[in-house]
Amino acid sequence: MSITLISGSYILAGLCFILALAGLSKHETAKRGNLFGMIGMGLALIFTILGTVLATQSGSTTIPAGPSWAIAAILIAMVVGAGIGIFMAVRVEMTGMPQLIALLHSFVGLTAVLVGWNAYFEPVSAGDSLALHHGELFVGVFIGAVTFTGSIIAYLKLSGKMKSKPLMLPHHNLINLAALVVIIGLTVWFVLDPHLWQLIVMTIVSLALGLHLVASIGGGDMPVVVSMLNSYSGWAAAAAGFTLNNDLLIITGALVGSSGAYLSFIMCRAMNRSFISVIAGGFGSDGAVTGEEKDYGEFHETSAPDVASMLKNAGSVVITPGYGMAVAQAQNAVADLTSKLRAMGVEVRFGIHPVAGRLPGHMNVLLAEAKVPYDIVLEMDEINDDFVNTDVVLVIGANDTVNPAAMEDPSSPIAGMPVLEVWNANTVVVFKRSMNTGYAGVQNPLFFKDNTLMLFGDAKERVEDIIKAL
Ligand code: TAP
Repeated sequence: MSITLISGSYILAGLCFILALAGLSKHETAKRGNLFGMIGMGLALIFTILGTVLATQSGSTTIPAGPSWAIAAILIAMVVGAGIGIFMAVRVEMTGMPQLIALLHSFVGLTAVLVGWNAYFEPVSAGDSLALHHGELFVGVFIGAVTFTGSIIAYLKLSGKMKSKPLMLPHHNLINLAALVVIIGLTVWFVLDPHLWQLIVMTIVSLALGLHLVASIGGGDMPVVVSMLNSYSGWAAAAAGFTLNNDLLIITGALVGSSGAYLSFIMCRAMNRSFISVIAGGFGSDGAVTGEEKDYGEFHETSAPDVASMLKNAGSVVITPGYGMAVAQAQNAVADLTSKLRAMGVEVRFGIHPVAGRLPGHMNVLLAEAKVPYDIVLEMDEINDDFVNTDVVLVIGANDTVNPAAMEDPSSPIAGMPVLEVWNANTVVVFKRSMNTGYAGVQNPLFFKDNTLMLFGDAKERVEDIIKAL
């Protein structure tokens, strides 16, 4: 097997990753996209190991060689890592996916830090520019360290182990700026005259910066952080690719980095947030959380049989699911209710908010899993004007994404975020277990409107009760 064959397999793997991204952009082709991703990753792993084995046997300098015990150690680590990965992926609930992804991003960040540190102690190959080598490894360690601690904080916030409220230290913007200035200064110094202490100081400052950047971001803006860390982890991998002279790692890292950056941009646009302010760690936000003491008045409760008779007489129904549908695993019951109502001649459609749930596309995945037809699943912009002509809206486990305070209260932490304007419908039924707030931690005036009825309890059980009563 020649080096050319290995380079060819890298190009093939890169192509598979591009096809994977293209496939993942649409519901209909998402499964195929995943398959391409798996094939690409399989090729990448097999040929990287084979390449290293070959280089070791032939004494090649084009591909990094290593002693045979190192190759055995890599294989053992891969088997153990794959075992842990499969175990976790099989066990994880859909609601636990965001924190698992955040944790996986932290591993990529940590790897980039370790690769950079290792490169500092490794002799540089003859003919390679020393300044370039030092620049690459310093940038790699910087991005990796920010990704590592940022992802750990994201994991803690998403799993509820840490409050989602933004940490607002005095002069927090100045702190971020000072850290960046120190890092840029150290980078230039390190490239010109490298010392170990510069690498140590930069790693510590970058770890602290990642921690501070994500801790400063409030609950409602976490979706952007998730995709932003995804992007950072890609750039960290690309930086490690430069340090290791591995073309495939550079290509894959750049694909993840740029698609993650574009996703962050789309999410910012959907949430009416400034991209720069979010990546700068809540830059410009004063962290105000208001309105909690306000008296919103009384709410009105309803029952499953009453909702069933309301639905029987309705001409058009819109279902707006949220994180609670994922918690209750109510998607199959919701799909059954949809089929039943459609069979009775009721028009049923879904309105999906871009950040409903805890992952981009979370609701779409659940509804696809429950085989809800794609053509009745509409995006927020496609459905918002139709609520005026809708008889009944079923808000199933959604809260922040249907909160009118985002449009009406400029002091709300979610102010400016576009929401599903469900209150314009004739009647709104909200499925939730209590009057608790949603992810952003703010009360929802929708629950107290005259045309809103609260149906308390687990969403799956309540939907099943309605099906029985129909
Ligand atoms: P949330 O605002 O999080 O509200 C979910 C609601 O579901 C809660 O009010 C909860 O009320 C209810 N609930 C929980 N378990 C339930 C169950 N078993 N049965 C019935 N109801 C249940 O949801 P959302 O409207 O989807 O908004 C998403 C929020 O998450 C946004 O603030 C968004 O910024 C944030 N976020 C999104 C992402 C992405 S990428 N989508 C990532 C991170 C954060 P009870 O406790 O009273 O039942």
